[in-house]
Amino acid sequence: MTDVLIRGRVLTFVREPEGIDDTRAYRYYEDGAVLVANGKVANVGTYADLAKQAGSGISIADHRPNLVLPGLIDAHLHFPQTQAIASYGAQLLEWLNTYIFVEEQKFKEREHAAFIAGRFMDELLSNGTTTAVAYCSVHPESVDAFFTAAEARDMLMVGGKVMMDRNAPETLRDTPKKGYDETKQMIGKWHGRGRAHYAISPRFAITSTPEQMEMSRALVAEHPDCYVQTHLSENKDEIAFATSLYPEAKDYTDIYARYGLLGRKTLLGHCIHMSDREISVLAETGAVGVFCPTSNLFLGSGLFDRDRFDKLGARHSVATDVGAGTSFSMLETMDEAYKVLHLQGQRLSPLHSFYMMTLGNARALDLEHRIGSLHAGADADIVILDSRAKPAMELRMQVASSLAEELFVLQTMGDDRCVAEVYVAGRPMKQGRREQAKSPVGRAAELA
Ligand code: GUN
Ligand code: FE
Repeated sequence: MTDVLIRGRVLTFVREPEGIDDTRAYRYYEDGAVLVANGKVANVGTYADLAKQAGSGISIADHRPNLVLPGLIDAHLHFPQTQAIASYGAQLLEWLNTYIFVEEQKFKEREHAAFIAGRFMDELLSNGTTTAVAYCSVHPESVDAFFTAAEARDMLMVGGKVMMDRNAPETLRDTPKKGYDETKQMIGKWHGRGRAHYAISPRFAITSTPEQMEMSRALVAEHPDCYVQTHLSENKDEIAFATSLYPEAKDYTDIYARYGLLGRKTLLGHCIHMSDREISVLAETGAVGVFCPTSNLFLGSGLFDRDRFDKLGARHSVATDVGAGTSFSMLETMDEAYKVLHLQGQRLSPLHSFYMMTLGNARALDLEHRIGSLHAGADADIVILDSRAKPAMELRMQVASSLAEELFVLQTMGDDRCVAEVYVAGRPMKQGRREQAKSPVGRAAELA
């Protein structure tokens, strides 16, 4: 692969920032560069030093005056819901039944799954997201489509087939045995192939019988290097329903604990209405709560209490949760995160936001040696951000006087228009990669 020297204002975090003035939490090179060789970061530093190191034959990608950051990471979203964003009016359980369990039925069609998977990956990349943790549908075909599309772009992606064997339409249900067998088969086929990581994905306690939860326990025990993803404590009606289905459990969190599903590789979407006891269980097990601000507002679910997670020592991450989430943009997601925390008297500094989208989410996945920061040996997943991409941003930036202020403008006013370029394993991906064809299912509907 061709080596390249990426020039611009390089920003990468080395630890969690402690406040808006914590300049030691990151490295910033005003005239900086990232030397990329064989899809990896070979070195990061000043342009002058790296140009010398690289020699005169190197090709230079000059992104000045834009920012050069590690690719953004989205810790929770649903690829089969790409066309179900902006489904009107309902809270979680009604929204699932009215829209989502209809939409996901389309993914038994390989052609449709492949079409959406391609558009999904391109949408992530347009937004500067180079790694995401995604739910596929119940159909193994959707998992094949998902990882095939990721592999075609060389993206580091985490995903898995949802398992659900009750409280969903019959065509979307597996059985404990089928869910187990198909998950095993998909792990065997995809986990560890190229940059693919598998996530064992019982959708949530409501859609799995105790027998399926037992099968999930077996899968987790047999595949400790796979991730686990599910939903927890998102909506009050959901909590009442889930706990009624598992009367022996102390609370919602205890349902997953009883089936051995909580550990460092477990990602729990939402975690909004949690007792201190529940958050402490996450802290003890190392399981990660996932803050999904646009989704939690869109479905009227509630406000994630980050400070209580921090106080009780529980890990957390941040995500779009498309299609309940309303945007693929992690910038727009952090804008909403800021407001959700503000409503609770909590502050989110822009340094912290950019840490969370990069190194913070990489740490939540225990992948910080590979992604989330720019250091020698890391994968060369890189985003180029233009803080002046919109006229109103350009005007606002005329009076910005610090890096932190610029980052705050980016998160508050920015979106995919600010993503000037994105590199995946060293390759530029932004230009001209959109497939414009219509979904085969959409076309069928038009013809009918
Ligand atoms: N809980 C169970 N499934 C889902 C889903 O698809 N989206 C959200 N937001 N919550 C869920
Ligand atoms: Fe979700």
